[in-house]
Amino acid sequence: MKESEHYKGREHSGIKHFLLESYLERLFMIIGQYERRICYIDCFSGPWKETDKNLAGTSIVLSLKVMQKCRDSLRKLGNSVGFRALFVEKDKQAYKKLDTYLKKIQLDGITTEAINGEFHSLRSEILSWCGPRDFAFFFIDPKGWKNTIEVPILTPLLQRQRSEYLINFMYDFLNRALIQEPFQEDMKAIFSKAPDTSGMSPKEREKHLIQLYRDSLKSIPAKNNDRLRSAYVSVLDSVKDRTKYHLVYLTRHPLGIVKFMDASEKMEIVQKQVRAETKQKRRIEATGQKELFPAEADTVTSEDAIDIEVVKDYWLDRLSESPQIFQAEDLADMLEETNWFESDLQQAFKDLSDEGKVINLDARNKRPMKPVHFDKRERLQRIQP
Ligand SMILES: C[S@@+](CC[C@H](N)C(=O)[O-])C[C@H]1O[C@@H](n2cnc3c(N)ncnc32)[C@H](O)[C@@H]1O
Repeated sequence: MKESEHYKGREHSGIKHFLLESYLERLFMIIGQYERRICYIDCFSGPWKETDKNLAGTSIVLSLKVMQKCRDSLRKLGNSVGFRALFVEKDKQAYKKLDTYLKKIQLDGITTEAINGEFHSLRSEILSWCGPRDFAFFFIDPKGWKNTIEVPILTPLLQRQRSEYLINFMYDFLNRALIQEPFQEDMKAIFSKAPDTSGMSPKEREKHLIQLYRDSLKSIPAKNNDRLRSAYVSVLDSVKDRTKYHLVYLTRHPLGIVKFMDASEKMEIVQKQVRAETKQKRRIEATGQKELFPAEADTVTSEDAIDIEVVKDYWLDRLSESPQIFQAEDLADMLEETNWFESDLQQAFKDLSDEGKVINLDARNKRPMKPVHFDKRERLQRIQP
């Protein structure tokens, strides 16, 4: 069976898994350079809508594959890292499949455990399982919002140091409940206040709500000065031009934001291709007519397209006429604030540099793809007109 066949009819899950896989790989390879143990916790693991008895096409199998791959790569670099994976599942039948699968596999250097129960009742148990010291990544991918992604529910996990989180914010689902009276208390628990979206267009409302949720997560009382940073990427419906969910990422490390946005950019390229192919398949199924040409990657709608002039203005606002050092922390701030990709910022800086409006004082040669090396603490400056 081809990998894509496991996602037939739920192509958006394939996109989510692409992001999870590519980010986890980057993360484990970085953390594994200096940690002896890494914990991975899938708080709503499934299996769910799986089509294969070996659970292919599920986050369970995918995460374990990434752990095996990174374990091997890290060993080659001389780092012996032990992975611990915990899977939490409420549904008895799904748990049975999960437990049977985990008992069947033996993975060198990776220990696995499954718990049957409700996430919110198991939060203390999950935190004890992690222990106080090891790095932990929490994948929070429920079906709804009640007792799952609400800020008071997540707070104990979010207060844990040395942790990162990927949360599925089911926008499509939530948007439909937003103004319904029975859900107003839930909305307050998610957004820390009742959202007021009156007068907003659907796009403005979506932007406002995702920002509100991120701000609400970041506002939890911190145990020390390490503030939470966040970024997100949108997974679209496989055929309709609307958001299915946003994957919200949280970290305390600037490099985390940079790597997550890098993985998100790759995901968007794949998403465009998968959506185009899915739409083409649906057309063929509906009409019975084969099409002459392969599907071409979907282009974003004009509403979503990034205006490079806006990115250039943003740069000009950030720069001053005296040299300023730019480093990973600045890049993370910019990505976090705008949700653009690094390539957008690089392109805009290049255009401004070609127009003689900015200069990188530490770039000896022209670097068309990457005019700014944020990891090298380069000095950037706006040029007086
Ligand atoms: C969206 S599915 C998970 C999909 C999986 N993460 C993946 O990507 O393959 C959500 C899962 O969470 C389980 N679930 C729902 N509510 C739960 C709860 N309160 N605690 C634990 N598991 C729950 C469901 O039974 C379902 O299997």
